[in-house]
Amino acid sequence: MKKLIYYAATSLDYKIADAHDQVNWLDELPNPQNLDYGHAQFYSSIDTTLMGMNTYKILESYEGPFPYKETKNYVFTSKNDRTATQYLEFINEPAVPFVKSLKAQPGRDIWLVGGGALGSSLLEAGLIDELMLFVFPVLLGHGIPLFKSVNSHQWLKLVHSQPYDTGVMALHYQVITQNEGRPTTSTV
Ligand SMILES: NC(=O)c1ccc[n+]([C@@H]2O[C@H](COP(=O)([O-])OP(=O)(O)OC[C@H]3O[C@@H](n4cnc5c(N)ncnc54)[C@H](OP(=O)(O)O)[C@@H]3O)[C@@H](O)[C@H]2O)c1
Repeated sequence: MKKLIYYAATSLDYKIADAHDQVNWLDELPNPQNLDYGHAQFYSSIDTTLMGMNTYKILESYEGPFPYKETKNYVFTSKNDRTATQYLEFINEPAVPFVKSLKAQPGRDIWLVGGGALGSSLLEAGLIDELMLFVFPVLLGHGIPLFKSVNSHQWLKLVHSQPYDTGVMALHYQVITQNEGRPTTSTV
């Protein structure tokens, strides 16, 4: 079974974009060693990306080539006004059964790129297996939350953490399923 991993950069107050849908604060943090925070290694471990329509709209507003040419890429929308491109398909059917069937296929893991709205539906359906968060040392105040809504307590198990010289903190969690209960001991 493929794992679905929500891999995202957040602010210290767990926003994935500011109030203007911008993520330029990610580039504002000095990074003299050009650290990629493990992104290339992570990208080689997946074969599929998932995005909500708002995330895709921000991505397509950037100049430059489409960044995820080596993977299958799906963008979820309730509308039917977009045509597939060379690199991605628009899915205007319910996300939960679609993602369930993707996870059952053989292959590498799936990257949930974001955002918080799509992430909420998939978390609520128990489909997210892991969170890999890169917490930037900035408070954004208003903005787009990591999850738009969480309707019941969802416990997570911290499996790895790593501070970087830039001040970014990597946090890798497994999502605990209902019948596993709460985490008992810390493993890190
Ligand atoms: N920091 C990071 O690493 C990171 C990563 C990703 C995104 N972001 C930022 O996050 C922001 C976008 O996040 P967001 O929470 O506003 O929106 P989002 O989850 O990217 O997109 C929401 C839209 O996706 C569609 N959608 C969501 N759930 C669906 C479902 N279950 N079934 C079918 N369609 C569904 C709907 O599109 P329709 O309205 O077309 O129906 C919905 O309006 C952007 O600013 C982006 O830059 C940051």
